[in-house]
Amino acid sequence: MAYSFEFYSPTKVMFGKDAESKIGKEAKACGASSVMVVYGGGSAARSGLLEKVKNALGAEGIAFCELGGVVPNPQLDKVYEGIRIGRERRVDFLLAVGGGSAIDTAKAVAYGLAEPEHDVWELFAHTRTAKRCLPVGCVPTIAAAGSETSKGCVITNERTGEKRAYDDNLARPKFAVMNPEYTKTLPDYQTESGCVDIMMHTMERYFTNGGNMELTDALAEGLLRTVMKNAVRLHHNPGDYDARAEIMWAGSLAHNDLTGCGNDGGDFMSHKLEHELGGMFDVTHGAGLAAIWPSWARYVCRDCLPRFVRYARNVMGVTAEGTEEEIALAGIRAMEEFYRGIGMPVSLEELGVRPTDEQIEEMAERCLAASGARTGSARKLDKADMVRIYANARGSGQDRREGAPAANTAGSTQ
Ligand code: NZQ
Ligand code: ZN
Repeated sequence: MAYSFEFYSPTKVMFGKDAESKIGKEAKACGASSVMVVYGGGSAARSGLLEKVKNALGAEGIAFCELGGVVPNPQLDKVYEGIRIGRERRVDFLLAVGGGSAIDTAKAVAYGLAEPEHDVWELFAHTRTAKRCLPVGCVPTIAAAGSETSKGCVITNERTGEKRAYDDNLARPKFAVMNPEYTKTLPDYQTESGCVDIMMHTMERYFTNGGNMELTDALAEGLLRTVMKNAVRLHHNPGDYDARAEIMWAGSLAHNDLTGCGNDGGDFMSHKLEHELGGMFDVTHGAGLAAIWPSWARYVCRDCLPRFVRYARNVMGVTAEGTEEEIALAGIRAMEEFYRGIGMPVSLEELGVRPTDEQIEEMAERCLAASGARTGSARKLDKADMVRIYANARGSGQDRREGAPAANTAGSTQ
């Protein structure tokens, strides 16, 4: 049965070669008069994109200041720095040039400037909700997080190691200027991590026990197959523009909520588990997801078998006959083979992370606290479940189903 839904995706997308030539006019059309240009550690400067963006703003007579040096798993102190500079310069528009980290930093600064009487971290600590946010535009240079069309914003408090998300339609970008050419300078690992993240945004919404629509499923499965095919193309030929274009567009559609229409909002436990890894070990987000997903999938699949079987058949192309559980597990194994094939880890060991038992306890504790309660849709997870999923994710090579209790219906809402 399809659940009722609202779909709100207000971002104007300008996609293709030379799309960046439209930045100045778009910013002006949004009423920008004093822009903060937010970027990362240097890739946008090296490619020449940053210079083009600044020239485009200058050509429209728009004043701008800069906030550079955003790091992956972007940090709260950089957000505070941006808010300080933004106040001095009376910034009224944020323009991010870079990946999810630059875009999320811009969104967080936009929240902070719009409500100067509050500490912006309160949003991420979920002790209040935002009433206002300055407008944000973006020029993504990596296909991955989907922040260019999403309501999400993820910031790490580097003092406490908490990596927390705040979701609000207020922060959906006004526009996204997307030229796949600019993703060609990405290191392979980042390209591949991005492909995983895009797939995971779709899969988080796909593996649910609540609500389905035929059209949504078909969009999700088509998106997943397209990303897999083009991830392999890029693995062999990173300069393939068409493959980059397919993946870049998939990245936006995977996280603008399109593939969640009609379901219960999705599971998102792999993301929540990964965010704790990011907060504690500073791992690349997509690679962290690849390392955690097989363990999560084996742990929950018996509680969400119809979806796992459908996934095995329609996405992973599993044709072998067997019980539903056997088909589901064959689909999970095929997914692992795919991840490995594009150079992604499928365990914490392969990710290069070796958490102690105490660290696993701490991550599970924090994950539960960040989730607010026992949560998930494929299966609701409590702290003990999270501990087992992290522990099972340590090594790879076996079916790693140890510790998964018998199927429950706690996550089932239909
Ligand atoms: O800092 P620079 O020099 O730009 O280098 C970056 C960075 O090292 C590099 N890079 C980006 N574009 C490049 C490039 N290098 C060469 N050529 C280019 N064209 O790639 C590295 C990673 O950048 P980052 O912005 O961190 O990547 P990504 O887009 O994967 O963003 C990851 C962040 O987004 C969050 C993640 O948790 C993580 O913090 N997410 C945000 C979401 C959202 N806002 O909706 C949802 C996601 O699930 C995710 O949680
Ligand atoms: Zn993600």
